[in-house]
Amino acid sequence: MKAAQQLMKVFVTRRIPPEGQKLLSQAENCTVQQWDSDDPVPRAELLKGVAGAHGLLCLLSDKIDQEVLDTAGPNLKVISTLSVGFDHLAINEIKTRGIKVGYTPDVLTEATAELSVALLLATCRRLPEAIQEVKSGGWKSWSPMWMCGYGLSNSTVGIIGLGRIGLAIAQRLKPFGVKKFLYTGRQPRPESATEVNAEYVSCEKLTEDSDFVIVSCSLIPETEGMCNKDFFQRMKKTSVFINISRGSAVNQEDLYQALVSGQIAAAGLDVTTPEPLPTTHPLLGLKNCVILPHIGSATYSTRNTMSVLAVNNLLRGLAGQEMPSELKL
Ligand code: NDP
Ligand code: DGY
Repeated sequence: MKAAQQLMKVFVTRRIPPEGQKLLSQAENCTVQQWDSDDPVPRAELLKGVAGAHGLLCLLSDKIDQEVLDTAGPNLKVISTLSVGFDHLAINEIKTRGIKVGYTPDVLTEATAELSVALLLATCRRLPEAIQEVKSGGWKSWSPMWMCGYGLSNSTVGIIGLGRIGLAIAQRLKPFGVKKFLYTGRQPRPESATEVNAEYVSCEKLTEDSDFVIVSCSLIPETEGMCNKDFFQRMKKTSVFINISRGSAVNQEDLYQALVSGQIAAAGLDVTTPEPLPTTHPLLGLKNCVILPHIGSATYSTRNTMSVLAVNNLLRGLAGQEMPSELKL
């Protein structure tokens, strides 16, 4: 008689979008335990849930560090994150333990690039401020210099990290009449650069020459705190700063000073430190700072697709099959 197959244990740290949830409910060969809430799993529950698990499906708000890995123990074979960013995972430790990691690149590129363009336009043309003026009665008459901002036509746009999302942003901005694209990174990316006729420059030159600086790189030790006092001091007084990467790429105190002192014209942030940003945070008191609650990939269809990919990464990884999107460690 065939021996009964041992079920693998999976822990899922949140309710996930319906299409991924449906796939998860059909999973064979594993018992799924889930933090059944739209709120983040408390640390104690994460540790309890992960103990002895073979697979973990987590979100970017879950810090998967040595303590979590130790608590999971040697059973843990697969971590699948519902994100393309992986800065919340202790990658070196995960690699040492031979754990496979699945993530969700490509499927969110278009939605995130679209949101980045929306944020850039909202920031440079001062949309939240203008809407507020209409509501508060600040709109007295059409006035030649009132509510003026900066336009993309004939501008120079600098992209920090011409990866999947950086390139998709440039492609979407090109039809606005951008004169020149600059980009920086660890090395030139000629194939992507050719598509938008972008020039590879140092970070110093990019900040000095750009009218718009867009941060779309991944958060790694080299990019942590990269946008600091020196960085903002090099930027033009009329320039606009956009960050869709991770909050920690920016020194927020230095950004605040740059915005208050007029060192730069405005900033648009989809990501902050911490998240959520406390409602009393000084950046929220500035008219020239537009802050969104990390909604880059937030379309119904993208989030559903991400969830299906994350579940497939998890289940295929657990089955010892190739994951649709494995992060090469
Ligand atoms: P990619 O891996 O395709 O791109 C990452 C880019 O970062 C590469 O171009 C890389 O360039 C660049 N980079 C790495 N190190 C440096 C450095 N030292 N200086 C400048 N650039 C650097 O990833 P994606 O485009 O798919 O995603 C990028 C990031 O966007 C994610 O890691 C995530 O943090 C963030 N994100 C945010 C979202 C949101 O909702 N706001 C949604 C999705 C992603 P090179 O290799 O040439 O150095
Ligand atoms: C990611 O995937 O890294 C984003 O920040 C959220 O979609």
